[in-house]
Amino acid sequence: MIKHDIVVVGGGLAGMRAAVEAAEGGADVAVVSKMHPVRSHSGAAQGGINAALGNREDDSTENHAFDCVKGSDYLGDQDAIEAMAEDAPRQIVWLEHRGCIFSRMPDGRIAQRPFGGAGSARTCYSADVTGLVILHTLWEQLERFGVKVYEEYFATALCVEDGMGAGVVAYNMRSGELELVSAKATIFATGGLGRVYAKTTNSYASTADGMAIAYRAGIPLMDMEFVQFHPTSLKENGVLLSEAARGEGAYLLNKDGERFMFKYAPNKGELASRDVVSRAEWTEILEGRGVDGCVFLDLRHLGREKILERLPQIRELALDATGKDAIDTPIPILPGMHYAMGGIETDKFGATRIPGVYAAGECACVSVHGANRLGGNSLLETIVFGARSARHAIAYIKGLGDVRVSERTLKSEQDRIDGILARSGGERHPAVRKRMNNVLSDNVFIFRDDAGLKKAVEGLREVREAAKSMTVMDKSKTFNTDLTGFLETEFLIDIAQCIAAGALARTESRGAQARTDFPERDDEKWLVHSLFHNTGADPRLDFTRKVTFTKWQPTVRTY
Ligand code: FUM
Repeated sequence: MIKHDIVVVGGGLAGMRAAVEAAEGGADVAVVSKMHPVRSHSGAAQGGINAALGNREDDSTENHAFDCVKGSDYLGDQDAIEAMAEDAPRQIVWLEHRGCIFSRMPDGRIAQRPFGGAGSARTCYSADVTGLVILHTLWEQLERFGVKVYEEYFATALCVEDGMGAGVVAYNMRSGELELVSAKATIFATGGLGRVYAKTTNSYASTADGMAIAYRAGIPLMDMEFVQFHPTSLKENGVLLSEAARGEGAYLLNKDGERFMFKYAPNKGELASRDVVSRAEWTEILEGRGVDGCVFLDLRHLGREKILERLPQIRELALDATGKDAIDTPIPILPGMHYAMGGIETDKFGATRIPGVYAAGECACVSVHGANRLGGNSLLETIVFGARSARHAIAYIKGLGDVRVSERTLKSEQDRIDGILARSGGERHPAVRKRMNNVLSDNVFIFRDDAGLKKAVEGLREVREAAKSMTVMDKSKTFNTDLTGFLETEFLIDIAQCIAAGALARTESRGAQARTDFPERDDEKWLVHSLFHNTGADPRLDFTRKVTFTKWQPTVRTY
């Protein structure tokens, strides 16, 4: 049995930030990750990280917080948002002092670029590879503190003993054995759920593992209907072309060469919030002003030098996938599934309802993004709440005796895995996953309505039924990715059902939830979070958690 004071599940930015904070605080901490940490999806984050650094007279942490509140369409919890905005400058300095290489202004200060929905240019960046640069910085810190990393360990279940978190069960992918990783505090930092959709900007690893594990252990998920579609994903393969392009001045064009965004967002144009821009693009496409189901991102006027200095990866990604060079050709793009605003319900310190269990980063719903996240806030959330959850976990374990270690969960997980491996007949799990992907992509996309959402709920019930007899072909032990893929598909089905059920239940339009049959925001009824409880079948929903307000009352949201 493996034993540590704190175990962090997930090795991306939130996970590594949590682990470094715990190690700096003197805790015995370990990371359990299904891949090497620097291969985490956080490395795909491109455009930057928000902080009101104090370099600009037109900005402040209060302005940053307000932009998030407005961006969230007033569903974000304002106390958590204020905490994030206030901590942001400190965290940038923290990263900087640990060697993170941010792009600079000529006078040496950290450069900041405009991003969507922001009142000032406050997004700090490293060209267009910001996530990767921060990821490597944190990996160096993990090495510096000698944090133990259980790499290629796939977490399958949370252990709860006497009502308290007691670690996880993880499948050692090299040996094919299940192992008990016992801990006084467990921090989930497993990232997003992108693979629930057919096309996404997310990596193949974004399979909602932590969300599903927490949900199955009795922790509610929150606000799952709010799925972000990023305005600029490549038509060919769904890969992200960063908002940084529009931040640096790129245009969005329809088939007539019109910069259409000013029809939808007269003040901000291409730099409106993502929900607004994605809906505008989709409207252009639906009304026949797209070309082959997409519109165009035009960087030509930025000039070769600026593109190569600030946006080199975007140019390369587009060139690789389309053969088109953004220096002289507009790139075909469309909205693509990008981010989950919802996740594991936590308080503003990352604590869940089970003592000793925390969540941070995309797998968590704190909630700082509400119904729509602003670009540049996902990296920020990982860093701020990774550190906060670790600080809270350290305080929690102080004075706590040993947690009870029982092999109950290990045994039940072993029975489950043995049962899966013993099965024959039934559908192969990739086929079931594909059906789930299509149900969601076809019916729970940018615009939603009652008929489509009922179809999704029903279709996902059938998928869940099919999943009961789905099989793996590979029965071997070493690196059995057939088995881990199966487990991921089961996780994704839980999550898909929550997304569809939440979208159906919320009879209003707010942020990324755009109902054509309920086109208005309804503040009388819906200033509440959606909570999803596991029943082993359809989720049970409740709306008992009200949005927290501090300074800002809801007003009409325009850009
Ligand atoms: O467009 C981007 O670079 C993505 C940033 C984000 O999701 O925060």
